[in-house]
Amino acid sequence: MGNPDEPATLGASAVAESELRAALEAVVDPELGDNIVALGMVRDIAIDAEGRVRVEVALTIAACPLRSQIERDVRGRLEHLDGVHAVEIVIVAMDAEARAEVMARARWKARDDAPATAVDPDTVVLAIASGKGGVGKSSVTVNLAVALASRGLTVGVLDADIWGFSVPRLLGMEGDIEARAGKMVPLELAVGSGTLRVLSMGFLAGEDRAIMWRGLVLNRAVQQFLEDAHWGRLDYLLIDLPPGTGDVQMGLARMLPRTQLLVVTTPPLAAQKVASRAADMARRGYLRVAGVIENMSDFTCEHGATYALFGSGGGARLADELGVPLIGSIPLHPDMAACGDAGTPVAAEPGPLALAFEALAKRIEGDVAPRTESSGCSARLVERVERAVAEGLLEPTSGSS
Ligand SMILES: Nc1ncnc2c1ncn2[C@@H]1O[C@H](COP(=O)(O)OP(=O)(O)OP(=O)(O)O)[C@@H](O)[C@H]1O
Ligand SMILES: [Mg+2]
Repeated sequence: MGNPDEPATLGASAVAESELRAALEAVVDPELGDNIVALGMVRDIAIDAEGRVRVEVALTIAACPLRSQIERDVRGRLEHLDGVHAVEIVIVAMDAEARAEVMARARWKARDDAPATAVDPDTVVLAIASGKGGVGKSSVTVNLAVALASRGLTVGVLDADIWGFSVPRLLGMEGDIEARAGKMVPLELAVGSGTLRVLSMGFLAGEDRAIMWRGLVLNRAVQQFLEDAHWGRLDYLLIDLPPGTGDVQMGLARMLPRTQLLVVTTPPLAAQKVASRAADMARRGYLRVAGVIENMSDFTCEHGATYALFGSGGGARLADELGVPLIGSIPLHPDMAACGDAGTPVAAEPGPLALAFEALAKRIEGDVAPRTESSGCSARLVERVERAVAEGLLEPTSGSS
């Protein structure tokens, strides 16, 4: 919803306004569950002949908890366009009418999306993705889950790598999934004062029988894990994505659109193109990328010397390219493979890897994907804002100057 009274594009810039808007369609307001262009939050956008962009973004309230995140995403999407040299973001607050309109839309969308899964609306859902296989997605998923659970949290782990499942082995868990009232009950593992709840094809089929299931549609299996399961109340649900195609990511965008991606990459700069393509596909599918994790970073030997065996800078480069933070680096360490084979997650054993996962868990809970505020349910935010406005706690600001 641009302002038709003001011409948006000035001079002979190489970048058209439509191109800028198209780039911003990749910026999703996770609370409202839609992109900021569709939500009418991009009020005005202009670029001058020097490639300086000025964009006005209207938020539901000026003190929106997602403000810095949206600003960061907007900047990230625009700065990397050819022909854009500077980005100025002006934040304004919606007036009461615009807010009511956007809330109605969000409510409609939330209702539309909500009943599809058995995952509680308060659960923060993080899917671990990468552009190529073997970079350590599964190792990061299980150890991050253990590190979060060690903080006293209840963490679900969904092994969405249906044919190549590895989560049961990495966690040293075996068993068969039981059904209660026709729904699958995840297998539980106590970790310190926290709990893991895990679903994997490995508990359904056994390593040999999984081969016989190949005819099953991949997404259908993931959908069943999301819909026909007793996840119960979870603080976090971590989803270990399979390598390769974006099918499961697309499925998640439809089934659980508030899923955020953590993109795992390795230090070599050459790997970044592939990882970036994977993240980009997710963004087009309306999944937000929360951050980048660099795995197999510097190796420190027992004498304390550090070696960048696989090069360096890949994680930072990708994070920069995506306009998201680099939220952790996990060192290359032989314990990762050894503990994975033994089914004793490194995050539960003292050492450099445990420290790295502890820092990552802290960062995620602290500011990347906190349990409150930016978690979950659009409807709840809508209610909160509406109640505050009704009670006169919030001043409707006439912001669209
Ligand atoms: N930081 C690390 N240091 C040493 N080895 C590691 C590290 N991270 C992962 N590995 C090893 O790399 C191999 C691949 O890891 P993992 O299976 O977690 O990757 P993946 O991305 O899930 O693979 P796939 O794409 O096949 O699902 C494993 O043998 C694992 O033990
Ligand atoms: Mg894996």
